[in-house]
Amino acid sequence: MRIGVLTAGGDCPGLNAVIRSIVHRAVAQYGDEVIGFEDGYRGLLDSHFRSLDLDAVGGILARGGTILGSSRLERDRLREACENASDMIRDFGIDALIPIGGEGTLTAARMLSDAGLPVVGVPKTIDNDISSTDRTFGFDTAVTVATEAMDRLKTTAESHQRVMVVEVMGRHAGWIALESGMAAGAHGICLPERPFDPADLVKMVEERFARGKKFAVVCVAEGAHPAEGTMDYGKGEIDQYGHERFQGIGTALAYELEKRLGKEAKPVILGHVQRGGTPTAYDRVLATRFGWHAVEAAHRGEFGMMTALRGTDVVMVPLAEAVTELKTVPKGRMDETESVF
Ligand code: F6P
Repeated sequence: MRIGVLTAGGDCPGLNAVIRSIVHRAVAQYGDEVIGFEDGYRGLLDSHFRSLDLDAVGGILARGGTILGSSRLERDRLREACENASDMIRDFGIDALIPIGGEGTLTAARMLSDAGLPVVGVPKTIDNDISSTDRTFGFDTAVTVATEAMDRLKTTAESHQRVMVVEVMGRHAGWIALESGMAAGAHGICLPERPFDPADLVKMVEERFARGKKFAVVCVAEGAHPAEGTMDYGKGEIDQYGHERFQGIGTALAYELEKRLGKEAKPVILGHVQRGGTPTAYDRVLATRFGWHAVEAAHRGEFGMMTALRGTDVVMVPLAEAVTELKTVPKGRMDETESVF
């Protein structure tokens, strides 16, 4: 069998572990040939690919990023790919294509599958917002990085009697903010799923100071918005990939809290540091299992499907099911934390 692999969308710790796992299983178990398309779907469209043998994936298990490079694909180019799907199968001689990516990548995978390409998807995103899978790899690493950052910020905040507003990633789903905020014991958590009122955060900080706890950490997801009429904060424009250009909620909220409280409030934007570097053990294991199961699915001819974690098992689910809606934080999960929302 000839298998094509690509990584698309925002990178994520664990991508290399999947690539390695696919190559190990496909080459060592089945004697397959594996090729890697460079820079996501662009490599497929522009015929940029290279052979991936056991040597090519040596030593990459713990490495962050992706050895294949990644990119986001413009919609027009995706249409082009779908129209030429059968030519691509013939030109590359591939029997299976394994795209590894988030919602955008899996939507493209579904479209290519509908157009006739033999596709097996592997979900990835630090945001953990793909429905049909309990977890995506990369999420555990991002939560670990954000938690450690907040642990550190707490000690300096306490020394200087400050409020720290820590902005983490999460456009539509606040999983990183929820779990890192919970793990670090953040005093306030703001999620995209629930518009927040800065007055609640002001009250929380004032109560803490009155009790002699003269510092606070607020964890805010980049996609969080204040409730209408509570604070000046505009919605951003939509970019060419359909994403809102954020206005910087961390900075805006720190400014607002400082103004209302008359106390120092500092924004800390964690940004891409959450996505870079070595994956945690959990993410390495999940990524490796996903790679293994993707190869098995390809050999069973189970196309139009993707790997998913259900409980502790890896199963195959239809791509169509995975991309219909995002997995957001349910109210019950917010209720479980003591932080102010
Ligand atoms: O989808 C994952 C994600 O990390 C989002 O949380 C974030 O908004 C986005 O990617 C940023 O990606 P980039 O800066 O690479 O466009």
